[in-house]
Amino acid sequence: MERTAHTPPGLPVVGNLPRLARDPLRFLTGMQDAYANQYPLVRVDPQVGQSVTVVLDPDIAHEVLADRDRFRRPNVGAQEQRRQGLVSSDGALWEQQRSVLDPEFVGGRLADYAEIAGDTLEETLTAWPESGRVDLFEELSILTMRVITRSLFSQDTDRERGETVHEALAALNDEFDASVFDLVLPEQLQSGVSAEFEEADAVLDSVATEFVDWHLNHEDPPRDVITALIDAKADPDIELSENELIDQTVLFMTGGQETTALTIAYAFYWLSQNPAAKERVRAEAQDVLDGGQPGWADLSDLTYTERVVRETLRLTPAVWSVSREAREPVTLAGTDLDAGEFVMLPIYAHHRDSRVWSDPLTFDPDRWAGSASRGDSAYYPFGSGPRVCIGRQVALTEAQFALAHVLQHYDVQVTADELDLQPSVTLRPSGPMEAEISALE
Ligand code: HEM
Repeated sequence: MERTAHTPPGLPVVGNLPRLARDPLRFLTGMQDAYANQYPLVRVDPQVGQSVTVVLDPDIAHEVLADRDRFRRPNVGAQEQRRQGLVSSDGALWEQQRSVLDPEFVGGRLADYAEIAGDTLEETLTAWPESGRVDLFEELSILTMRVITRSLFSQDTDRERGETVHEALAALNDEFDASVFDLVLPEQLQSGVSAEFEEADAVLDSVATEFVDWHLNHEDPPRDVITALIDAKADPDIELSENELIDQTVLFMTGGQETTALTIAYAFYWLSQNPAAKERVRAEAQDVLDGGQPGWADLSDLTYTERVVRETLRLTPAVWSVSREAREPVTLAGTDLDAGEFVMLPIYAHHRDSRVWSDPLTFDPDRWAGSASRGDSAYYPFGSGPRVCIGRQVALTEAQFALAHVLQHYDVQVTADELDLQPSVTLRPSGPMEAEISALE
């Protein structure tokens, strides 16, 4: 007998799919609250459109993420479908790419990236006005774009280019939002990609092409991600397609820049709402950095700042959900799933599960002070298993440095009291994120 997951009641024909597509955060936290006690999985099972199994038990989420044999990472959105990079590849190709790129994200490389982040922050702050109003998300996107391109591609990015890429990423997110509604439509009614998407993709392509060409024309390019890929291409055992250098560069740019900018921006939002926490970050920064720029050796001393970043990633995880697709008919948590079933792991809802977290909606960095309160499996802002985020340490370092260095020199106050979140490829603010900045005496 087939064992199917519980299907909560929904609308005729389309079931709960429109609620999931229209307001996923509310829908998924609602499912978590209502059903996680009883069921490890629930199913959104419309008569037309895509069925989705939502994993409510975080331990089962990790089981799925650990199991590459039975579950593949589906490429969601036009950009991942079009480009072949670490984030979008599968099988032997993914294994090859990950083994080429892993060494770029360990050991001494992390210390080098930390120094680049420190230098870039220092330069950015020197150019900030004494006071004024800024779109904080855009400002931080320009910063993180510079850090990523300097660290991974040995290329600088000026403000104008940072703004262009920031706009291009907004267009990719809009395209993704439109494509979510395609889930409810039969294939012949689904929309193709928009002209705005094509334009944004062309912008990213030309930036990446310029970076790759620079490396190809350089006799002895510095060690970085593009050089690692070019060297790997020379190895006869490794197959890399012609376009892969550009695709990888585009996907690293999009995957690493926006997520980190969002995390820092949300941390400033939470600190604006919690002035005592902001003062603690500032006091720690003044104590550890003493007015100077942060470097690798300071990282382990910025302990309260680290808790702030962790707590920010709990409440506002820049990647709010990850998905997998069953490669074959599988049994998961005692339930049979068909081949091709879309399995959703709702990071955002797990991070707010009241069965796991005390006062789940309260911003409380000190919950990270002792290991016992960490919520273990219900916390995975960088995913888990073999495809865990390759850039997690880069992102955490940059976020810690940005909070500490900015707050020892400036006050930053996000003006809105409420966050209006738009879950797209990433968890973005629905409009500009206005903040008042003012230099400290
Ligand atoms: C706070 C910032 C970040 C967050 C929240 C984040 C989150 C994630 C998550 C959840 C995944 C797993 C996706 C899945 O399993 O389907 C992932 C994968 C990935 N991330 Fe990040 N990320 C961040 C920063 C970065 C940075 C800075 C880089 C690049 C330097 C990066 C590059 C990647 C890549 C290439 C993958 C794919 C790994 C693979 O499939 O082997 N991310 N990230």
